[in-house]
Amino acid sequence: MEQTNQNATVERKKRILSGIQPSGTPTLGNYIGAMRNWKLLEDQYDCLYMIADLHAITVRQEPAKLRAQSMQMLSLLLAIGLDPEKNVLFFQSHVHQHAEMGWLLNCFTYMGEMSRMTQFKDKSAKHAENINCGLFTYPVLMAGDILLYQANLVPVGADQTQHLEICRDIATRFNALYSGVFTIPEGYSPKVGGRVLSLQDPRKKMSKSDPEDCFISILDTPDVVRRKYRRAVTDSEAEIRFDPENKPGVSNLLSILCALTGEQMETLTASFEGKGYGALKDAVTEATVQTLTPIQERFNQYMADKAYLESVYRQGAERAGRIAERTLSKAMRKIGFVAK
Ligand code: TYM
Repeated sequence: MEQTNQNATVERKKRILSGIQPSGTPTLGNYIGAMRNWKLLEDQYDCLYMIADLHAITVRQEPAKLRAQSMQMLSLLLAIGLDPEKNVLFFQSHVHQHAEMGWLLNCFTYMGEMSRMTQFKDKSAKHAENINCGLFTYPVLMAGDILLYQANLVPVGADQTQHLEICRDIATRFNALYSGVFTIPEGYSPKVGGRVLSLQDPRKKMSKSDPEDCFISILDTPDVVRRKYRRAVTDSEAEIRFDPENKPGVSNLLSILCALTGEQMETLTASFEGKGYGALKDAVTEATVQTLTPIQERFNQYMADKAYLESVYRQGAERAGRIAERTLSKAMRKIGFVAK
């Protein structure tokens, strides 16, 4: 409970923390699985959204590109409608407490726990030439991101569930040793669209690190969107049916359409009765273009206003840093470090 100026007692809103890596332009998967829920939650919660640049360097990045993609990501967060007054928007590297908390928590996490992470296994197969320690301990840094802010809820796509579980385990372990330092967070994934799949290999998630034709980027032009959906893998039947096991390609297109239009799956599939895959691809193209066009227009406006972007991320880092410092100093005191 918190006192307002009027001396009335109000309930403090529950807190949200989530993040996205600036390792490329976000995909439609990032948007449906996570980003658009951030906008939906901004009134109900006290929200912090972070551009996870420290996470991005677990894979080698070109310096100029990383900088450009980070600014692009900030513009995109604004372009999807996040209000920087209601939401704290910041770069992870601007809040030094993340790296520090990451170190502390490394000492409360076991090697065995990390080696079970499926994303580590996938990523180390993809980047066999650079399996660095950061890639291995990445979920610990992510746990620190969440715990620093005492987040109650973490809106993410389904691929982050395992990381969230380990975060809860680390927090519970730490609390058991030092009592009441961290809030134990819950995950929040959308019912439809928590796992958007690759257009070329619909058994895998849509990912920005795969070849171009596998994903729709938020910044793809209508022509590119149309071409990618036209080439999307389906199957040799002609029936439009939601059946992820036997018809992963068609089911993925249906899920995307459902997520973007807000329609029920049954209504949607019924409306395609007797129609071919071309009609489904046209409909999903149309819904995607309608969603992305206004975002792209706003994106271009924000990209042209560097001074504004700077003011947003500076203010964001200041606000985030104040909260993060409180948790970090508490954790350090509990561990037994001498106070400054
Ligand atoms: P990242 O950058 O890979 O993805 C950002 C968000 O998009 C979701 N997502 C998807 N959702 C549905 N279908 C897909 N195909 C798809 N691909 C990605 C992800 O689940 C994620 O929510 N580790 C995080 C970034 C991070 C973070 C955090 C998140 C760092 N610290 C603290 C939450 C809390 C990541 O790599 O996300």
